[in-house]
Amino acid sequence: MKVAILCGSVYGTAEEVARNAKQLLTDAGFEVLLNPRATLADVQAFAPDAFLAVTSTTGMGELPDSLMPLYSQIRDQLPAPWRGLPGAVIALGDSSYGDTYCGGGEQMRELFAELGVQEVQPMLRLDASETVTPETDSELWLGELIRVLKP
Ligand SMILES: Cc1cc2nc3c(=O)[nH]c(=O)nc-3n(C[C@H](O)[C@H](O)[C@H](O)COP(=O)(O)O)c2cc1C
Repeated sequence: MKVAILCGSVYGTAEEVARNAKQLLTDAGFEVLLNPRATLADVQAFAPDAFLAVTSTTGMGELPDSLMPLYSQIRDQLPAPWRGLPGAVIALGDSSYGDTYCGGGEQMRELFAELGVQEVQPMLRLDASETVTPETDSELWLGELIRVLKP
């Protein structure tokens, strides 16, 4: 089974979480695409069976610039073969931002809804005010995702 990780990061924290997720998924026998500069064509060529979005939040609840080109391409085209595929979101944010807490992750959830990608697990929020070890904090959740996705 192939999992495409859609990653957005400003300072590299979300990218570290995504790399760790790739490792766990690979160890569990999945084939994983993780390329922070992937285009829509790259993701389509990979032909994913599932999606994992891992993104931080910047500005006032916005997605990182690194994810915007891919996000916009996906939104413009909404590839039909992705409808019905399973997906899940890891959102990095900081609860001190109040209303925009994990806004980037929420935007990915909305994109999944538009695509018809089925969220198979509630979004994981990793709060920079609470933790300095987001990779390890995500591992229990990733273990559950692996259990849900495993054929
Ligand atoms: C300029 C700036 C704006 C931010 N805006 C938000 C925000 O609106 N909501 C939120 O939840 N976190 C916000 N954050 C917190 C980051 O999302 C959080 O620190 C995250 O762990 C950074 O991950 P990254 O290194 O992958 O970019 C902001 C951080 C910075 C530096």
